[in-house]
Amino acid sequence: MTGLFITLEGSEGAGKSTNLKYIYDYLVRVGHQVLQTREPGGTPLSESIRELLLSHDYDGMDSDTELLLVFAARAEHLKKVIIPALKAGQTVLCDRFTDATYAYQGAGRGIDEQRIADLETWVQGSLRPDLTVFLDVPVEIGMKRATNRSAPDRFEKEQLSFFDRIRQGYLQQTLKEPDRYRVIDASVDLAAVQVQIKSVLDQLTDNNQH
Ligand SMILES: Nc1ncnc2c1ncn2[C@@H]1O[C@H](COP(=O)(O)OP(=O)(O)O)[C@@H](O)[C@H]1O
Ligand SMILES: [Mg+2]
Repeated sequence: MTGLFITLEGSEGAGKSTNLKYIYDYLVRVGHQVLQTREPGGTPLSESIRELLLSHDYDGMDSDTELLLVFAARAEHLKKVIIPALKAGQTVLCDRFTDATYAYQGAGRGIDEQRIADLETWVQGSLRPDLTVFLDVPVEIGMKRATNRSAPDRFEKEQLSFFDRIRQGYLQQTLKEPDRYRVIDASVDLAAVQVQIKSVLDQLTDNNQH
């Protein structure tokens, strides 16, 4: 038996970390064994790579270096954490995954999509998320929320146009794989966002009753 692989996507301040807990609590309540994790990160080595990726010590990092670091962190995370959990029948709930690579390093940095797809196949084989919740928020709203939260990291320091490309990149991906994505309007207040998420989860768990 393999568990469900659910990912949460969206740009800065969309509410991923906030709503991850809501999704976790819901799934536990209906009887799932849930492993909550994040990217880049999720293992000690991958968290160290995350620090390299976010640190201002490496402002101006080459975008291929950035892409390879993201996938290095992901390879470790998959082999040490995600795949074993799925094999054990757990539901894996991950704050960002490869869709974020297409959005940030692809649409954002301008790396050719095919190069990302090659690495995706190399590192993941055929493994893809079963469901991806995309929290969509206009860039200005997301940035305002993120700025109130903490000092900007290496990505958050980018121009608004970078985040616009990311949002557009995500939206295009949702059109390519409509079955996998659930698009949530995350510009509204938290309660209204969670009403939408609840409806997605109600549908999902009805379809997957043990
Ligand atoms: N729907 C919402 N309305 C207003 N503020 C929100 C909403 N969702 C999240 N926030 C706040 O915005 C900030 C960023 O949310 P967070 O979950 O950290 O976003 P992300 O993980 O997507 O970057 C947090 O301070 C959070 O409390
Ligand atoms: Mg977050």
